[in-house]
Amino acid sequence: MSNYHIKNLEEYFQVYRKSVREPENFWEEIAEEHFVWREKWNKVLEWDFKKPEIKWFEGAKFNITENCLDRFLPMRKDKTAILFEPNDPEVEAEHITYSQLHERVCRMANVLIEGGIEKGDRVCIYLPMIPELAISVLACARIGAIHSVVFAGFSSSALAARINDCDAQCVITSDGSFRGDKVIDLKGIVDQALQECTGVKTVYVVERTGNKIEMENGRDKWLQPLLDEAYADCDAVVMDAEDPLFILYTSGSTGKPKGMVHSCAGYMVYAAYTFKNIFQYKEGDIYWCTADIGWITGHSYIVYGPLLNGATTVMFEGVPSYPDYDRFWQVVEKHKVNQFYTAPTAIRALAKEKLEYVEKYDLTSLKVLGTVGEPINEEAWHWYNNNVGKGKSPIVDTWWQTETGGIMISPIPYVTPTTPTYATLPFIGVQPALMDDEGNEIKGNQVSGKLCIKFPWPSMARTIWGDHERFRNTYFDVFENKYFTGDGALRDGVGYYRITGRVDDVIIVSGHNLGTAPIEDSINEHPAVAESAVVGFPHEIKGNALYGFVILKETGESRDRENLRKEINLQIAEQIGPIAKLQKIQFVPGLPKTRSGKIMRRILRKIASNDAENLGDISTLLNPEIVEDIKAEVL
Ligand code: WTA
Repeated sequence: MSNYHIKNLEEYFQVYRKSVREPENFWEEIAEEHFVWREKWNKVLEWDFKKPEIKWFEGAKFNITENCLDRFLPMRKDKTAILFEPNDPEVEAEHITYSQLHERVCRMANVLIEGGIEKGDRVCIYLPMIPELAISVLACARIGAIHSVVFAGFSSSALAARINDCDAQCVITSDGSFRGDKVIDLKGIVDQALQECTGVKTVYVVERTGNKIEMENGRDKWLQPLLDEAYADCDAVVMDAEDPLFILYTSGSTGKPKGMVHSCAGYMVYAAYTFKNIFQYKEGDIYWCTADIGWITGHSYIVYGPLLNGATTVMFEGVPSYPDYDRFWQVVEKHKVNQFYTAPTAIRALAKEKLEYVEKYDLTSLKVLGTVGEPINEEAWHWYNNNVGKGKSPIVDTWWQTETGGIMISPIPYVTPTTPTYATLPFIGVQPALMDDEGNEIKGNQVSGKLCIKFPWPSMARTIWGDHERFRNTYFDVFENKYFTGDGALRDGVGYYRITGRVDDVIIVSGHNLGTAPIEDSINEHPAVAESAVVGFPHEIKGNALYGFVILKETGESRDRENLRKEINLQIAEQIGPIAKLQKIQFVPGLPKTRSGKIMRRILRKIASNDAENLGDISTLLNPEIVEDIKAEVL
């Protein structure tokens, strides 16, 4: 039996037990047998959750791109590594083989070197879902530059904040992006962002849409001519196990996004191992994850996880609704996709459309279906299972986070059972714990609490860029000696986990994490606004939508309410991005507050969800009378 590929339930239990009883031996074996190293580690694991400091495979030397590319050249050079499906279905898909990908990554790496980028430098990547995005990520990894991919739906202010936070000196972008029938001027957004970013010396521009754009002399460079001239091979820079591989920003409950730092070796081992097992990838399979590489899902399960296993990974530029709502299923049939990984919000949106859109296509190639990003509701789960999987493809409901780097709780298809709305069992090496509010671990089954992890796993984030204290406060100070996820969960009678949602001020809208604080900051900047509070409420397709309670200044009182709503949303779209726009905005005379002045979001959440019957005891509020006023005008 190989511990690398788990094939049945007995093996799962056996391997899980080993991973918990002898974690170091277990991970050492996986690392030794399935990756190429220039030098082996001195110690498998060193950890201290108080500091916190976590080190895996210290002393090891290697490069992750040699594990993604070079080692496959002898056997798989003509195998498709990336299968690129463009936005426009009339345009032919591009099959990029392992040897072509190797060459393109090397050329890109040489361009970066030529541009003065060195090991440890930060490179911001702001690109649509085109091959250059994956190639840029890998090129950074090749030369040891730290990539910071920013989702190309973020606004110029959000982009500027992320560039400045990590002092990126170089940005890779494109002249524009195609999304459905829209063309988006990405370069214009970058230009605007860079007015606030003095540290950026170079902007590399991929030609994608042919849009007319401004090129700033000395700073902006078209990428293709440089790639054409660059040498087609590039030695990989030898990295230490704990050197940072990338930064990826995620929302927190205060205004500033958190730049989660992932390091090289542990991330590689865990991304590869989870991919192999959770998708049961077999040689020759075509795997498709519909996420964007701007999110952690795309990092771990479009780029690194699949390539580390020599897989074929589909990269899709478009959207599920263009040219019509059958686009996903058309692509599944066309490329005979075997594993399909998407978000509950996409499933809910497609489930609202005619069934013919799904039924028209031959989906028999599918073997595994997956979901990620938010809890999947029962109805969506059954729709997915019945209509896409035809009851034959197990659904892996994968729970994890930007911070965890890889999937943490999930069924293993054909190995462990699935249950609608349950992420089920911890993955190999993962030791979850449910905690009560007093900080005690809740043992046994049929219980619920706050979800923590009590032992390190290889791909956990190591710090927040530039703010280790925030890393400690947010994740390690809440419960002693445990990593706190920010999620609530229940464990049922047989020990399966069901994630019930965030227990902090992060709201998940269409699978995107949004902190309430930055949105409130943005609303409060409007000249007519005095104060605001944002909460989530259930939404049929998005999972949650945002509800804003806004107190106006006296000067704002005379303004037209509809115009104000538009202006507030425009401001949010500009400062954060359209994904953070409010679905509903209610103007209120005040907000319910505790005596210490903290907004009681719990009460607002109930009001926004039309569940205000049972608000519990509100007599401890500073201003209990305000609750009735707000309820009376709820939208
Ligand atoms: C939520 C995405 C329920 C959760 C990989 C988590 C989920 C946050 C699931 C992380 C799931 C993710 N079931 N909730 N299967 N997967 N979440 O950082 O609240 O974008 O903390 O990482 O999404 O979102 P992030």
